Amino acid sequence: MSADHFVLKDIIRPNIWALQPYRCARDDYQSGILLDANENSYGHSIAPTKARDNSNYTNGTGNGNDQDAALTDHLAAALHRYPDPSHPQIKEAYAKLRGVAGIENVFLGVGSDEVIDLLFRVSCVPGKDKALICPPTYGMYSVCAQINDIGMVKVPQDTTGGRFTVQVDKVLEETAKDPSIKLVFLCSPGNPTGTAVSLDIIENILQSPLYKGLVVVDEAYIDFTQASHPNTPVSATTLLPKYPNLVVLQTMSKGFGLAAIRLGFAFTSPELNQILSNTKAPYNISAPTAILATQALSEASLKIMRSKAAQILKGRQFLLDAFSKFPQDLGPYVGGLDANFIMVPVLNRETGKPDNSRAERVYQAMAESQGVVVRFRGKELGCVGCLRVTVGTEEENETLLARLRTVFDQIE
Ligand SMILES: Cc1ncc(COP(=O)(O)O)c(C=O)c1O
Repeated sequence: MSADHFVLKDIIRPNIWALQPYRCARDDYQSGILLDANENSYGHSIAPTKARDNSNYTNGTGNGNDQDAALTDHLAAALHRYPDPSHPQIKEAYAKLRGVAGIENVFLGVGSDEVIDLLFRVSCVPGKDKALICPPTYGMYSVCAQINDIGMVKVPQDTTGGRFTVQVDKVLEETAKDPSIKLVFLCSPGNPTGTAVSLDIIENILQSPLYKGLVVVDEAYIDFTQASHPNTPVSATTLLPKYPNLVVLQTMSKGFGLAAIRLGFAFTSPELNQILSNTKAPYNISAPTAILATQALSEASLKIMRSKAAQILKGRQFLLDAFSKFPQDLGPYVGGLDANFIMVPVLNRETGKPDNSRAERVYQAMAESQGVVVRFRGKELGCVGCLRVTVGTEEENETLLARLRTVFDQIE
């Protein structure tokens, strides 16, 4: 099995294919007296903070503050320089973590959101080409499509029995009819479905001559999926060696708990990686981000990441058990349990059925009078009445439950 029908050049916009990328001296030389980039030779201009003046930072107590100080010094020394344009060390560490061959397969973006946008920009001609999504799914695919003036073809998922399945035959029917579809987005596990797309489904689309574009598998929540299924491979990265038409997106925003640093990853063929690199802004990944990401990829940090993922799965089970104790107000969870959130329908107490109007009122009351913000997803396909609840800390979960109880007692 492979993708002999796939020709990258046919998927890339001609202006992007012909692009001569911006080059800087730093692409070739990164050490010595650096007088090439018009930076500020006297360094950054941030005033020292009080904490740092009188600090534990330099008192040699051997606690975590010393580490923080080292990190801060490292950061301070890097601030006045443009960052590395390509960050090979991060790519290498991340590829190793995910069992991917090498850095030529890894692209770094300002969150996976930047990569999603770039994929539209390199492959879809505005006003002409299209992308395909399988609702309910992550909202940014449609937003990026609209920003880039790209049409969207929607193939709804099968939502029978409160579960979600991508309808492969229907996807391929659409792509066969419309060769202007250049991107197919599969969110795995899905947001908001919480359901991993099976590798068989992904491979069926990758290998079908009925579709000649790129298959983008968005694995933002993969660390929770892998923790939920420790003995089964769940990531589409295992398919990369066979399929040059595959792009796998991942991020440090979820499992790694680093949403603020904005670092996303795309695994793909070296050829498409080169095209994405040619098109991105020259220094898209900042030095603070790179320094923190490098730390997050150390063995010690990965251990913490995995232990927090395990804690979150425990919290997910705790919430599921607790939700079942509100039988008049909450139905059984909808979708899957492959991520760090639960989709749960709010019921109408009289009919016992999921109720969008009540769910919306509960959502608002929780945010406005109880100070707990969840997400109302009731207008998405197959999600009537649903709130999407991120698993919190133990304390947050307890508070959520107590406040839900208050709100359910108040809202008809
Ligand atoms: C499915 C999915 N993909 C991508 C993202 C965005 O990730 P990032 O923070 O890396 O831009 C999100 C964020 O919620 C998401 O749910």
